[in-house]
Amino acid sequence: MSKKKFSVNGTFKDSVNTVKFLTERKSFINSAEAVLPTRTDDFGVNKVAKSIHPKEQKLVISRIEKHKTFAKSYYLKSETAPLAYFKAGQYLTFKFEIGNAVVTRSYSIASSPASALKGEYQITVKRISDGFVSDYILDNWSVGDKVTAYAPEGNLTYNPLRDAENIVGIAGGSGITPFLSLARAIDEGDEDCTLTLLYGCRTSDEILFKAELDSLSEKNEKINVVYVLSHSDEEGYEKGFVGADIIRKYAPEENYSIFVCGPGGLYKFLETELPKLEKERKYIRFEVFSSGKKVEEAKEYSITVINRGAESVIKANSNETVLCALERAGIEVPARCHTGECGFCRSKLVSGKVYIPEGEDKRRIADMQFNFIHPCCSYPESDLVIRIN
Ligand code: FES
Repeated sequence: MSKKKFSVNGTFKDSVNTVKFLTERKSFINSAEAVLPTRTDDFGVNKVAKSIHPKEQKLVISRIEKHKTFAKSYYLKSETAPLAYFKAGQYLTFKFEIGNAVVTRSYSIASSPASALKGEYQITVKRISDGFVSDYILDNWSVGDKVTAYAPEGNLTYNPLRDAENIVGIAGGSGITPFLSLARAIDEGDEDCTLTLLYGCRTSDEILFKAELDSLSEKNEKINVVYVLSHSDEEGYEKGFVGADIIRKYAPEENYSIFVCGPGGLYKFLETELPKLEKERKYIRFEVFSSGKKVEEAKEYSITVINRGAESVIKANSNETVLCALERAGIEVPARCHTGECGFCRSKLVSGKVYIPEGEDKRRIADMQFNFIHPCCSYPESDLVIRIN
């Protein structure tokens, strides 16, 4: 089609050009092939979408940095395509084959979005008790190893249409990583919000990235970092837990949103603390973690799994999620968040009964009615038959 020029004010010439343009466009459409091309991959828009949302990313570990707190940072480069871009606060889900199990786990990205454009992600993994996958990473991942991750996802991100422009970040332990990413993004000019970071640790020795956080807070007035120690009384640090009093003391006077990322204990504590602030629920966002199920005595059940028409029977325990049982049996399930939020693991419960902890049932109403479950936060309470994929 020929290019027509239109003025800003709209003249008679513009009207003529518009008529010519529409006539040309009509003849152009009429002369196009009636059958759609089958190779939709060739469309420019699809190429862009694919690079932003790749199904999988083949990554290689380029560098490992040891922290003094039983934690390591892993720097990952792409083996093939450019890295998928992300928003500060999002996470990467990795796929592991550990023994016979096929397992997925998510880790928040610590690096800034700009670093993805330069070809690098950073994640930080801390050793935790019963941390099956975290321990596996810390003990096995070496420089040069190849790993598989899905595209970045997650909602602990700043959205000016939804959130206040002042963010109060509450971090516990290794839950600091999404806030480090946000602080870096603010400093690089990629996020236009302020960050008051309340970082809770047991002792000052456990603080991760202290030198960088201090330097960001010193040079950028939009970033303020406060350390809160629960198990030691040291000069220059707040003592106690990050609760309503500490938030009131440091939060900006203007409206603010609260973002939370940390271990289960932090969420339990905040359940009673945050209501004291009387904030609207829309201004509070959590990077959620499963609280698990407390049972006196674990019972063993069987799960009949229907997967693309084939059937298999696996064992499951009442104190582990259905997803956990599937992964242990080596059955690959599309899973990302492990918290019931993303819906990737959604499966049909054909028969049987599951327990879903309070607050973790994030299914759509239609899914509840038609017996679809999220195996990542469903615990068997009887023998089950489920259909995955
Ligand atoms: S993995 Fe996200 S809902 Fe189950």
